[in-house]
Amino acid sequence: MEVVIADEYTLAELAADAIEALLRTEAAPVIGLATGSSPLRIYDELTTRHKNEGLSFARAQAFMLDEYVGIADDHPQRYRNVIDAEIATRVDFAEGAVHGPEGSADDLAAASADYERKIAEAGGIDLQILGIGSDGHIAFNEPGSSLASRTRVKSLTHQTRLDNARFFDGDVEQVPKLCLTQGLGTIMEAKHIVLVATGGNKAEAVHQMVEGPISAMWPATVLQMHPHVTVMLDDAAASRLQ
Ligand code: F6R
Repeated sequence: MEVVIADEYTLAELAADAIEALLRTEAAPVIGLATGSSPLRIYDELTTRHKNEGLSFARAQAFMLDEYVGIADDHPQRYRNVIDAEIATRVDFAEGAVHGPEGSADDLAAASADYERKIAEAGGIDLQILGIGSDGHIAFNEPGSSLASRTRVKSLTHQTRLDNARFFDGDVEQVPKLCLTQGLGTIMEAKHIVLVATGGNKAEAVHQMVEGPISAMWPATVLQMHPHVTVMLDDAAASRLQ
């Protein structure tokens, strides 16, 4: 694991540099997109480079990490709508090139298998952007998730629902209880993983991820087994590292 500690603007530039290199060198690049606050500066930086420097996503495909189950299609916090607003519609992805788990499918098990198949057909994910939850989740693989898990339905913990209530008028009751999420086994197949964490509320999860024993109770610790992970932290998120 490579750990980079810098201010959040520098981190966004470094992450955007890695994505730009992929877009400029690969014939059919595949990017993994995270939702939430952590990647927003990266998406802003990529949008700026698209507008000012002609950075093109036209040959790329993208795969989202997760989606709520039981949220209205037009809800602004549906992850598909968030990704559209934050990055997908701000750059030049081709029609249909940004994929997400179908959280509104009638058969969620079939939708999960279908999503895994689509990722495989695209040739796997070249660069996966990740955030981390304060309880150590990545995507929505909450504590106790199998380290080998694949895309499936998961329950969100109360802690995650509390953390995400800020996107739902501060009302935890409005935060969905279920999601479809890539599994830890799915994420581990990405060729390069760039995890961004900022703020003191991530410090314990970051400490466990980088320095703790590998355990399903801190799901991000599985990344210690991955050959190419870049962990990007601000001072506060890095404050518990030894
Ligand atoms: C989002 C996701 C989550 C978030 C995590 C951190 O697609 O999968 O794992 O990355 O909850 O969220 P933020 O960045 O909002 O602190």
